[in-house]
This record gives sequence, structure tokens and C-alpha cells, in this order.
Amino acid sequence: MARFIDELKRTHHCAALRGTDIDAEVVLFGWVQNRRDHGNLIFVDLRDREGITQIVFDPDDAPEAHSMAEAVRNEWVLGIRGKVRARGMQKSKKTGEMVSATNPNLATGEIEVVVSEATVFNQAETPPFEIRDNLDTKEEIRLGYRYLDLRRQPLQKALRMRHEINQATRNYLSGQGCLEIETPMMVRYTPGGARNFLVPSRLNLGSWYALAESPQLFKQLFMVAGFDKYFQIVRCFRDEDLRVDRQPEFTQIDVEMSFINQDDLFTAIEGLIFAIWDAVGIDLSKQYPDRTFPRMKFADSMRDYGNDKPDMRFEMKHVELTDLIIEHGGGGIPFWKPIAEKFESGAYRRDLPAEIVKAMVVPASAGITRAEGDKLEKLAKSMGAGGLARAKVAADGSWTQSPLAKSITPELREAINQATGAGDGDILLFQFGKTSLVHTVLANLRVHIAKKMKLIPEVGHSDDFQFLWVVDPPLFEQEDDGGWAAAHHAFTRPHDEHVDLIEKDPGNVLCYRYDLVLNGFEIAGGSIRLHDPVVQRKVFAALGIEEEEAQEKFGFLLSALQFGAPPHGGIAVGMDRLVMLLTGTESIRDVIAFPKTQKGTDQMSGAPSEVAPDQLAELRVKSTLT
Ligand code: AMO
Repeated sequence: MARFIDELKRTHHCAALRGTDIDAEVVLFGWVQNRRDHGNLIFVDLRDREGITQIVFDPDDAPEAHSMAEAVRNEWVLGIRGKVRARGMQKSKKTGEMVSATNPNLATGEIEVVVSEATVFNQAETPPFEIRDNLDTKEEIRLGYRYLDLRRQPLQKALRMRHEINQATRNYLSGQGCLEIETPMMVRYTPGGARNFLVPSRLNLGSWYALAESPQLFKQLFMVAGFDKYFQIVRCFRDEDLRVDRQPEFTQIDVEMSFINQDDLFTAIEGLIFAIWDAVGIDLSKQYPDRTFPRMKFADSMRDYGNDKPDMRFEMKHVELTDLIIEHGGGGIPFWKPIAEKFESGAYRRDLPAEIVKAMVVPASAGITRAEGDKLEKLAKSMGAGGLARAKVAADGSWTQSPLAKSITPELREAINQATGAGDGDILLFQFGKTSLVHTVLANLRVHIAKKMKLIPEVGHSDDFQFLWVVDPPLFEQEDDGGWAAAHHAFTRPHDEHVDLIEKDPGNVLCYRYDLVLNGFEIAGGSIRLHDPVVQRKVFAALGIEEEEAQEKFGFLLSALQFGAPPHGGIAVGMDRLVMLLTGTESIRDVIAFPKTQKGTDQMSGAPSEVAPDQLAELRVKSTLT
């Protein structure tokens, strides 16, 4: 029988002991954070997931343990029995005087444990990087040894936070009457939405499963099945290009409810967010005393911020100039004249403009130099823009440092100064052309400049949590060939008063779809579903989807909706993004235990990997790679 573990059970974790425990006999288990040999005494910082305790090996007290400690190295796994004592005096490195060895930065800093008995559970190779909070080791190397990386405090903290969020979520949603029920991950491939990962079926040669991109269809079936309210903390799979806030497998807090409207759902989710923030020790009620988050119409968000996920921690709104440009017939600017003309001739619609002109004011206080302006233009070009017209406004309202300055009419210049509120020293940035491109470029520049101006942190933590519901987006979006596609999916409920427009004017049909945005990131999205078969048929007609095609694509959902589907709606919260924002980390990879790299690979296990030809043959799958 082994002395440690079998006989000597752990009495405390490594962050537990305090001054009040002096003289207690304790048993601790953990890893060697570091070891300091002071000749006679050997000090070891023993670490477990909770924290660190200093232990002391004294040859006079325990000669055997002391000689063992001489061999000990970082990351070895030890068990010790010993007695708690107050930390003694030590020589100050600065002054050479004797001072108390108490460490105020450590929870256990008042005490140390003098070892009477110890064991080495296991030795460790020298780790490829040090186990400490701040590292500049390349992420690739850290991901290759993720189990060592995970020993570090920031990652321990993030994963513990996920645990707390999971518990709070279950507790809260269960309290709201939601049942936690699982849905399949291997599902039928359905077109549209994100690209799916495909899994070949051995038992049905030539057929493929898709890995579920979300439980969407199944959670709606739960409503048809009468479960009333559902939730799941669920893994989703999407074969997308990866970004700092995107992983191929990620986790959603998925919710669906029957007999609710948009307001009811918002109240439930606001409660969830409060419960989650509470669980990690942040009280949102000062910022949101009535426990609700502000709402913004999708159209307003696009107009003022150029996207549907505005960061509300700072202003710098975009200014729509299209109407002014039309009014002034282009105002002498050769690029703007044809745009104005197309509106005049009716080739462009005012309510759904194909091209627009927008500006953004960078305040003089940002101190943007000419060279920095050129850099901004480069950035705009990298996003597909033709350029970035700019003008510096002088005290008298005239423009300098701008190719526009010579040709613009004084009237339009004055009108633009007024519309944008630009004053002495401010810089106007202009984008014009295809609506979506203008929006994207200015939206990205807005955030880029805000970071430069330190209006928001470059990376890292923000204590300012600005939530926003973005509501009432269009149901359809126009495709390049002039046809209409579902902006999100074909099962979103249109506003009742817009049902008549579905046929006549699809572009102006708004719907009950919503996103919850936090500091410029979309952390949740959902909709009230279309459960009325008559309206559903109209939507399919507008999308140009024939009955047969609808059956082929969505057969089982359409069929289920005909068997007494209750009114229902739901949402999914992106758990990884949420934790990323709560911890203030740079990337979603920092809050996932075993993430994939930007290229979708697992540095540690080597996934994805090739498989043997006979495995493929068994599945009747042939590689065309040579
Ligand atoms: P949606 O596609 O908007 O909605 O996804 C919901 C939320 O999931 C997060 N998310 C991601 N997080 C990390 N990596 C990804 N690749 C990724 N993709 C999405 C985002 C997003 O807001 N079934 C619908 C929900 C519904 O209608 O009820 C859905 O999946 O934070």
C-alpha cells in the first residue's frame, strides 16, 4: 500500500492555508512551480489548480525528504506531509536588512509548510516553455503542448469560467422552464447556411452525413413535439474560413421556446446574460438598472455604423451623404455625378440604393498625419475599396489635403461640413460606390481608428460591456442576378404588416430576426419562426423555390409544421465568443481547451490526417489528389 494517496489523503489544496492554520499538520499534492536551493534549506513553490503554497525542506527536520528535494525539478509531481508555520525573516535583496518573508501577492503568502515526509509521484521532462502567466512563446508551440499550456493560470481561469457559465446557464434556463434535451450531430445535409463537414456512411455506401452546423431544425421539431421550452449547451460544426472569433467546432447555448414573442425571448435572454455575468462576479445592474438591453433597428445600424454589430463603446458614426449628393447633382465631383444621375433617372431606388456616398469624421484630436491617412487608404484598399478620399477641414470650412477640394462646389462642401459636423482640423473620410462595400470599409475603419485613438483597447480587457439588440432586419436580400435569397433562413417570421409586400416588394419585408451584440461582436442570433404554412408558401415563392425543391430541401420540417406547430422562436448564444469577451483574451482559441489553428489543424494530435487507402476503399471514397 502506498503511503501517499492510499494512507495520506490530501488535506488542503494549494491556495487554502492561511495564518489561522499555523501548526496544522497538512498533506498537499501538486506540481513544482519552482525550486530555490538556499544551501541548507530548499524552497519549493507547489502548484495545483487553485494556487501555490511555499514548502520548505529542512535537512535537520527531515533529512530523507531534503535529499529527495535536491533532485527535484520544475513540473515534477510531489506529495508532501508537513506542518504549517508563519513565514520567517529573510534578508532583503534591496537593503540587506532582515525583513518578513510574507508575500502579500499570494493567498497563502503568510505561511509555509515545513516538510516532514515527501514523495515524488512523477518526474517531468524540461517543458518546452515555462509555465507562467505571460509568455511570448509562439502560439503554435503552445498548441503543440496544449496540456502544458493549459497548466498556465490564464487558461485555467478561462476554462474554469466556462464551467461556471455552464452551471449558471443550466440553473437559470432550467428555472425558466427549459428542458435540456440533446439533438443529433450526424444529420442530413441541407443546402444553404454554413458549409458543412461531411462524414461518409459505411453502412449506406455513397451517402454522407453532415455534422450539424446547429440544432436549428431539431429544436423546432421539439416545439412541434410539445416540449414547450428547450435548451442545450451544444457543439456545432462549420467548415468556414477561420478568424479570431471563429472556430470550426464551437459551442452554443441553444434555446427555443413556444408561445412567446420577441419581447418575451429578449427578457429570457437578458436574464441569462445577467445570470452568467453574476456567476463570474460582475454586476451588470449598475449599467442596466432595468435589466434590459437597448435595441437598434437593423437599418439604423447599417446607416450609422455600416454593419449589424456596432461597437457602442464609442461614437464616430458614419454620415449618409447620398441624398445631399443627389440634391447637388454630384456637386462638381466627377465620381459622384454618375451616382446622382442614376438616382435622378430612376435607375437606382432611394429606399434600396445600389450605390451610396458616406463619410466619417476623424476628430482633430486623433492627430492623423498625412502618412497615417495614406496607411488608412492602404487598409481600405485591402478590403476591396478603390481608394479612400479624404479632406482636412480648416477653421473657415475650406478643405485642404484633398483632391476633392478643387472640384467640389462651395455649396456641397458647406452642406457636407454641416451634415457631418466637421470642424477645424477634423478629417473627413469618404467612401462611395457599391453599398455593401462602402459599409464594410467604413465599418472596419471606424473600429481601426477607435483602437488607434485608444477609445477602445487594442486587445485585452474591457470592463465596459455594451450590449445591443439589433432588430427588424430585412427577410430577403437581393442577389447579383436580381433574384431574392433568404437573408438568414426561409423560416423567419415576417412582420405581419409586411406579409402583403412579400410578393410585391420583397426588399422591404422586415422580419423578427435579432442579434445580440456585445462590444462589436455578435454573441447571439435567432428569430421568431414562421409557423404559418400560408405565409411560408409566399416566402418560398418569393425565393423562387418550387414545392418539389422545398420538399427536397426542408421536407421533414415542412411536414412537421403541418401537424400543429405552435408559435415559437429561439436564439443561440455563442459561448466561446462570450467567454473571449469576458476574459478579454485576444482570440477565441484562448478560451477553448483544444482549439484548432487558423488553418483548422490540431497542432498536438496532427488532425486532420491522411487515412489508409483501404479505409477509404471500405467507404468507397477515392482521393483525387495525386
Ligand atoms: P447563428 O448562426 O447566428 O445562429 O449562430 C449563433 C451564434 O453562434 C456564434 N457562432 C460562432 N462562434 C464561434 N465560431 C463560429 N464558427 C461561429 N458561428 C457562429 C455566434 C452567433 O451569434 N440556429 C441559429 C440560432 C437560432 O436561430 O436560434 C444559429 O445557429 O456568437
